[in-house]
Amino acid sequence: MTTVQYVPGLENVIAAESRISAIDVEAHSIVVMGYDLSEVSLKASYEEVAHLLLFGHLPNELELRNFSRQLEDNRSLPREVYDWLRLMPSSIKPMDQLRIAIPMLAVFDPEVEDNSHEANIRKATRLIAKLPILIAHGYRIARGRELVSPDPSLPHAQNFLYMITGKKANDFEGKVFETSMNLYVEHELAASTFAARVVASTFCDIYGAAAAAVSALKGPLHGRANEKAMEMLLQIGQVDNSERWIRASLERSERIMGFGHRVYRRGLDPRADIMKGFLKDLGERIGQTKWYEMTVRIEELMRNERNLYPNVDYYVGPVYYLLGIPIELDTAVFAAARMAGWAAHAIEQHGNNRIFRPRALYTGLRGLRYTPLEQRS
Ligand code: CMC
Repeated sequence: MTTVQYVPGLENVIAAESRISAIDVEAHSIVVMGYDLSEVSLKASYEEVAHLLLFGHLPNELELRNFSRQLEDNRSLPREVYDWLRLMPSSIKPMDQLRIAIPMLAVFDPEVEDNSHEANIRKATRLIAKLPILIAHGYRIARGRELVSPDPSLPHAQNFLYMITGKKANDFEGKVFETSMNLYVEHELAASTFAARVVASTFCDIYGAAAAAVSALKGPLHGRANEKAMEMLLQIGQVDNSERWIRASLERSERIMGFGHRVYRRGLDPRADIMKGFLKDLGERIGQTKWYEMTVRIEELMRNERNLYPNVDYYVGPVYYLLGIPIELDTAVFAAARMAGWAAHAIEQHGNNRIFRPRALYTGLRGLRYTPLEQRS
């Protein structure tokens, strides 16, 4: 007889074999395709990291030029998608635009049904190119603002930031944003990536995997924590208010957004370290240090009171705020960055597939007998 073990939330369960990334909690490091993500995130462009994930190696100059050109050539949306964006109510949320529009993009991709490795890479490249434009233009359409066309002279991340804010960021701000996208790009079997792999394991196409992943990311326990963390900081308002606000929230048994992590149980997420440094630096440069002071004070309190540490979303929220990104776009930006990671996982799943089909521990009734409708009270 097979031994069946029930593990709530699949905690510590190995659900897939993967060559893409590993979280090394002891070493305080995330390995992506053999590289330390902390180092790569600071030194590489988003294009290089996305290439690494799709092709398994960092590009040489020619490969990088070709890949960047493919991204540039695909920075457009079908007219029908723009028509649809204009038909939606202005209250539509960016993540809802994404989870509807990604399957729409599939309809216009002639290779949608081709799950070969080569077609998957081409489709993934299109998705990586199109998500930023969908997010930036979708947001501007919903808010009745003028669209900002992509600037071909800008790298992928810097162009994304430009299309959102309508302003050319300085070099430091561009670097901060690009690093955040690199840090968001891949993180082993997070809920959204697992969702992508489950869908890919049925041999559904990569668009289906991306749509499932976006839906999983939307939840506040996963990607939306970056928005929620910034909303919380705004509610707290003043550094001196932090302690009282957090204690009251904990007393009501509420979760403090941006704290805790299934894998980094009792330690800092290495991505949070980097974003924390950027929050300090950015705040000093633009004369808004209170967000850094507030986050540090809350971090100390949470460590002392609950032994809980911040995750990447805790620091990304205020960094994006200082970069002028509207809070409601934070999770969608995360999605655009993670697209390369989701694609790499869907492609890996297609290449070595076994459908995900776990079992459930039945806790319901048995033995009930069917009663005809007229005899039911
Ligand atoms: N605030 C207050 N208490 C918390 C928090 C929090 N943010 N996170 C965990 N705890 C407590 C929890 O109540 C539990 O306490 P007890 O053992 O007394 O019942 C204990 O810590 C363990 O928590 P858990 O819910 O069993 O942990 P989990 O692994 O199931 O959940 C989590 C992980 C990330 C969903 C959770 O920590 C959480 O809800 N955090 C807030 C949301 C958040 O920041 N999410 C972003 C995750 S990382 C980036 C990403 O993937 O997007």
